[in-house]
Amino acid sequence: MDAHGRTLDYLRLSITDRCNERCLYCMPEGYHGWRSRPDHLTREEIVRVARTAARLGFRKFRLTGGEPLVRADVVDIARDLASLPGVSCVALSTNGLRLAELAAPLRAAGLRTVNISLDALNPELYRRITGGSLARVLAGIRAAVACGFECIKLNCVLMRGVNEQEIWPLTLFAAEHGLPLRLIELMPITSTEVLDERHFLPVAAAMRLLQQHDDLIPVPEARLGWGPARYYRLRHTGALVGFIGALTTPHFCDQCNKMRLTADGKIRPCLGDHGELDLRALLRRGASDAELEQLLQEAMARKPLAHSFRQGFTPCRPMTAIGG
Ligand code: 5AD
Ligand code: SF4
Repeated sequence: MDAHGRTLDYLRLSITDRCNERCLYCMPEGYHGWRSRPDHLTREEIVRVARTAARLGFRKFRLTGGEPLVRADVVDIARDLASLPGVSCVALSTNGLRLAELAAPLRAAGLRTVNISLDALNPELYRRITGGSLARVLAGIRAAVACGFECIKLNCVLMRGVNEQEIWPLTLFAAEHGLPLRLIELMPITSTEVLDERHFLPVAAAMRLLQQHDDLIPVPEARLGWGPARYYRLRHTGALVGFIGALTTPHFCDQCNKMRLTADGKIRPCLGDHGELDLRALLRRGASDAELEQLLQEAMARKPLAHSFRQGFTPCRPMTAIGG
């Protein structure tokens, strides 16, 4: 429980700040963070943090980055986490580039669900937004489906004038493959440039766009996973589409159940708030389990009531370091 009565049971673990893509909304221009000496937590340190969090009631853990699949020991980390007492689900968020090779070993290691970023279905546009290869991501999605993950969701960040015209094709693709699609409002995480009128597309606008093609039926009970998405079923195509309106939805943070561990070992109670506590320092000076628990509890108690994206939040660390 945090200070505002919310149950915190979901910890997102950024296991690297490196990435094999360069998304417009994520990478600050000229960012070369991964060229400096990485101060990433080791596999053992990550697992120790997760074990401690599980003792405090955290049940769900998600591997993020950067791109978690560029880390060589990602399958081992997933296996270690899946076997911890109290852990009910280990999930992954990925750009999908390496999923074709890694889906099967990750599934075998006990990973249960996967979120895959997919911002466009047009290969040139996909490359322009992310710098990556759409064909590889599609192969990754097929591999994930073939491995029988319990849930695979597609994530698309909404950008006016960039990928609006992709929303409907993405919806049809999601329906065809039976995968939920989530449309996510751009957040000023890495740079505030993206938030200007030119690029910001509110979820309400995406909803209106879909309504030109199909009827949206609210599915209030759909809480796939643990995220803040509001889901709708499209009457004719059958697609399940979730809207994540971090900037425009009132009371967006009221049900928030998560905290984050950054790649360099800081506990961050809220993505849209600069507060962080340094777990790595404790880990590396040989702190006891009780001390780790105490720091995690302090972070839980400090979790703000809401993010401050609307109050002139200025990013100071890139998303890749915090965990997407
Ligand atoms: N706004 C919204 N979502 C973001 N992500 C990364 N940066 C942003 C941003 N500025 C999310 C997207 C992406 C995942 C890796 O992180 O969902 O698919
Ligand atoms: Fe890489 Fe994800 Fe950032 Fe894109 S959003 S650059 S895939 S970490």
